[in-house]
Amino acid sequence: MIGVGIIGAGFIGRNHFNQYEKLTDRCKLVALCDKEEPRRLGDWSGVGGNVGDTQGTRRDLGDIRPYADWKELIADPKVDLVDICVPTYLHKEMAIAALKAGKHVLSEKPMALNLQECDEMLAAAASAKGRFMIAQCIRFWPECVWLKQAIDDRRYGELKALHLRRQASTPGYSLNNWILDPALSGGAILDLHVHDVDFALFLLGKPEAICAQACQRTAGAYDRVHALWHYRPDLVVQLEGYWDMPPAFGFNMGFTARFEKGAVVFDICTGQPLTVYTPDGGKETPEMQPNDGYYNEIDYFLGCIERNEAPRTSTPAESRDAVGIALIEKQSAQTGQVIKVR
Ligand SMILES: NC(=O)c1ccc[n+]([C@@H]2O[C@H](COP(=O)([O-])OP(=O)(O)OC[C@H]3O[C@@H](n4cnc5c(N)ncnc54)[C@H](O)[C@@H]3O)[C@@H](O)[C@H]2O)c1
Repeated sequence: MIGVGIIGAGFIGRNHFNQYEKLTDRCKLVALCDKEEPRRLGDWSGVGGNVGDTQGTRRDLGDIRPYADWKELIADPKVDLVDICVPTYLHKEMAIAALKAGKHVLSEKPMALNLQECDEMLAAAASAKGRFMIAQCIRFWPECVWLKQAIDDRRYGELKALHLRRQASTPGYSLNNWILDPALSGGAILDLHVHDVDFALFLLGKPEAICAQACQRTAGAYDRVHALWHYRPDLVVQLEGYWDMPPAFGFNMGFTARFEKGAVVFDICTGQPLTVYTPDGGKETPEMQPNDGYYNEIDYFLGCIERNEAPRTSTPAESRDAVGIALIEKQSAQTGQVIKVR
């Protein structure tokens, strides 16, 4: 039985909490830390979000130990796995401390704010006895897993065009709006769009070059990016991510993939299932795995711990690459240049 301690009981901490509660045959939630007293005591009524469980409630946490100080949670001998769900600027310090304490660590995306911080985390993980993974939930999202398989097994022939999109209203749910401060979150490119950067890396590996444009609204923060990733002349790959839409828009994530023999469309905001359009004029809606990416990533990481195996579906080095490539997009947008990646 894996003892779990979560640091950060905001939007994503609450989502992770709900997943561990579905996995009580393999893990036990033993500790919860948040610097805000109501949150660490289970009052999540003021915690919102944009996907998954978007509205918090009050919860009875039973014998789960509440901590105000994250260092005390890490030192708790009942905690085997530390799940880091705090704002991004805190990931590095907490992950390194937990790894040094011999704990397994699941830390939210983006891995960190820059490559130097990622490298420090990788160095700590290299000599740690615990397992380490960044919570890149899109690699575990059923429709995204399905697309990866369709590209790999070429069931519709060669991929010709791919458009990944993540579109949102300006987020208003993070505590004290930390997410809108680029010094704390990295802005929309790192916080939101990094999901699709990591997804494109998962699907296709690193591109040869990237060309991006971005818009800056709030001081210093890009809140919209559109990027073209160059692989080969007969494949068009476009990624877009933004959180500058008006409040009523809400949230969408989706993709369009055009293959030689058909096309696939998925947009979560439509409520429609992933749809395959076939060359004969037909439409198919393949069956998806029942659970979402949050459940699947935690289920997978618990399995890695149980089997004493390093994660392979999402490695910390790949999560570092996602940060690096998101920053290359930013550099391309700032300079107006096409940037060579490999
Ligand atoms: N995978 C996803 O889909 C997804 C979705 C949302 C957020 N995230 C990531 O999760 C992280 C958290 O984002 P969020 O939306 O949950 O933010 P949030 O503001 O909703 O919650 C963060 C929580 O951390 C707590 N906290 C802050 N500093 C702390 C400290 N020093 N000690 C203890 N607790 C502290 C806050 O009180 C707050 O409750 C970010 O890195 C974000 O990018 C990932």
